[in-house]
Amino acid sequence: MTELVTARLALRPFEAGDLAAFAVYRSDPEVARYQGWDTPFSMADAARFLEEQRGVGFAQPGRWLQLAIVDRATGLVHGDGAVHGAADQPATAEVGVTLSRSSQGRGIATEALTAVLDELFAAHQMHRVVARVDDRNVAVQRLLDRLGFRREGRLVEADWFKGEWTTLCTYALLDREWAARGAQRTSGTRPALVGVKPQASK
Ligand SMILES: CC(C)(COP(=O)(O)OP(=O)(O)OC[C@H]1O[C@@H](n2cnc3c(N)ncnc32)[C@H](O)[C@@H]1OP(=O)(O)O)[C@@H](O)C(=O)NCCC(=O)NCCS
Repeated sequence: MTELVTARLALRPFEAGDLAAFAVYRSDPEVARYQGWDTPFSMADAARFLEEQRGVGFAQPGRWLQLAIVDRATGLVHGDGAVHGAADQPATAEVGVTLSRSSQGRGIATEALTAVLDELFAAHQMHRVVARVDDRNVAVQRLLDRLGFRREGRLVEADWFKGEWTTLCTYALLDREWAARGAQRTSGTRPALVGVKPQASK
C-alpha cells in the first residue's frame, strides 16, 4: 500500500483513530445525500467499514479502497478518496470523493483526486478512469470538469436510489488526456503531487 502526498494532504488507508471523524461526516445528511450510505452513520458502522477495508489493494479489481484524506499540517481528516478497480475490463478504475462540509470549497478534493489520478495513470498504468454521479450533484460535476473528465452520458431515471428514480451522469478520463494536462500542471496552475511514500503493509 502507498501513501500519496501532496502539498497540503496525505492520502492513506484509514486507521482506528480516524473513525470518529469519519462517522461524523458520514452522519451529515448533506454529505450523504447522493451517497450509498444512510444517516446516522454510527461508530459501529465505522468499525465495520474499517474491517471491510482490511487488505484491499489500490485499484484492486472488484473492490473499493477508501483512502483517508488527511491534512498534513494538522492531522485533521478532511474526508476520503475512493478507488475501485473494474472487474470486467483491464486497466480501468472508478473514483469517488467525499469531504466533510467544513473542508469543502478549498480545493481539497481537486488536490486529492489529482494525486489519485496520478497514481492510477502513472504507477498503475490505467487506461481509463470513470466516475458516476447523481445528475443533481453539481459540486462533484464541477470537480470532474475541473480535473478534465469528459461527460459521456446521462442515464435518465436509471437508478432506484434512496426511494426514488435518479438520473446518473457518467464521466471518463483517458491516460493520454491526463498526460496532456500534466504539462499545464507543471506551469503551476494546478496542485501537484509531491510524492508517494511507501507505507508498511497492514
Ligand atoms: C464532491 C465534493 C467532494 C466537492 O467538494 P468541493 O469542495 O466542491 O471541491 P474542492 O475541494 O476541489 O473545492 C473546489 C471549490 O473550492 C474553490 N477553491 C478554493 N481554493 C481552491 C484551490 N486551491 N484549487 C481548486 N479549487 C479551489 C473552487 O473555486 C471550488 O469552488 P466552486 O465549486 O464554488 O467553484 C463535495 O461536494 C462533497 O464531499 N460532497 C458530498 C459527497 C459527494 O456527493 N461526493 C460525490 C460522490 S462521487
